[in-house]
Amino acid sequence: MSANNSPGNGLESIEKASREELQALQLQRMKWSLRHAYDNVPHYRKKYDAAGVHPDDLKTLADLAKFPFTTKLDLRDTYPYGMFATPMRDVVRIHASSGTTGKPTVVAYTKNDIAMWAGLMARSLRAAGCSADDIILNSYGYGLFTGGLGAHYGGEALGATVIPMSGGQTEKQVQLIQDFKPTVIMATPSYVLTIADEMIKQGINPRETSLRVGVFGAEPWTNEMRREIEERLNIDAIDIYGLSEVMGPGVSCECIETKDGPHIWEDHFYPEIINPETGEVLPDGEIGELVFTSLSKEALPILRYRTRDLTRLLPGTARPMRRMEKITGRSDDMLIIRGVNVFPTQIEEILLKNPNLCAQYQLQVSREGHLDKLDVYVEVRSDLSNSVSEAQRTEIGASVQHQIKVLVGVTADVHVVETDKVERTLVGKARRVIDRRPK
Ligand code: DLL
Repeated sequence: MSANNSPGNGLESIEKASREELQALQLQRMKWSLRHAYDNVPHYRKKYDAAGVHPDDLKTLADLAKFPFTTKLDLRDTYPYGMFATPMRDVVRIHASSGTTGKPTVVAYTKNDIAMWAGLMARSLRAAGCSADDIILNSYGYGLFTGGLGAHYGGEALGATVIPMSGGQTEKQVQLIQDFKPTVIMATPSYVLTIADEMIKQGINPRETSLRVGVFGAEPWTNEMRREIEERLNIDAIDIYGLSEVMGPGVSCECIETKDGPHIWEDHFYPEIINPETGEVLPDGEIGELVFTSLSKEALPILRYRTRDLTRLLPGTARPMRRMEKITGRSDDMLIIRGVNVFPTQIEEILLKNPNLCAQYQLQVSREGHLDKLDVYVEVRSDLSNSVSEAQRTEIGASVQHQIKVLVGVTADVHVVETDKVERTLVGKARRVIDRRPK
């Protein structure tokens, strides 16, 4: 790993490499990663033997399409340690992501893996406009979730000062912002809005703090939500993406100068976009499911992992490495309401186009008789809460209902409610959907 994290030193040389140089490195690393998994993880060997493929069949990057996918199910079936490729004495850390059902997914890191992750998180933070001069309030949850420790090690590798606050205790978050004067905050985008609401409650103007940049991820958020956050907190809001199975935060990150979708750190993770129904690899520019192959991970090599996240690959802008479009949703959180496909982010975009509303919202789906029913609960912006009357709320609700009908194609009952009436994110990811329909 050639990370050069000293401030002022600009980019690592690989960040400036041509596509040819990058692809040569990717091919060399991909061969190693496939071989490493095949030799050391019986589960991969069995799957590849059954599919009649062998690591030696990989001659070009495109040959990767011959190999089977890996899914969360593979990690569940081998719970807890069956996908590890190194002996436990070389594993220095374990994380786990809580699934919605059953057992968590367990992931592992060697010393080299941790150094690679910290280096890529430092690279991400540098892309987000941060340096050793910054003080970072790290409000991602510490613990089994990769957000807290991932961001922590990255901030330290950059040479910044890290405040390991973790998620929750919103009053204390505000106190630390006032007293410790952090310049950067790292949190889920929905949680930073909860922090802004708490500031208003305490009579503090969220636009007038020491914060300059926010590095937000772990859940989908739209460009409309970015505008709301930037406006309310007077900061640059940067999108960072990642997932535990592939590493954690820092698989890709936006650059502050462009904010046009996260650049994928392709020297360590090879992306593909597939048609989620057929598994066919799609060309750059087409929307589909994002699939990742790790190129350098030792403890948990992950090959053609189906993320379920929907996006498309775009050419590099601020950096030569390719970008992914801001995630629009997951193939598994798509709701089908009366036969219409609905993504929570589509509704979010509509809600946030209304200047009276904020990103505290929740979709509740139920069944009345044989028909699906969608209720959208959304809060009035907290700074307007006292000036918007009940009659105005009803009017706003009717206008939003009309737009949802026209733009998404479903009928929704829209309830515009007062501040604090929608379930809050206290720690971690917002719960955007409650589906009460019988299975
Ligand atoms: O959420 C890692 C992370 C922590 C990323 C902090 C960024 C910041 P998991 O808990 O395994 O890992 O959840 C991964 O969260 O497949 C996406 O569906 C979603 N996700 C993560 N980042 C973004 C993002 C962490 N920037 C899952 N935009 C992923 C949209 C995101 N969705």
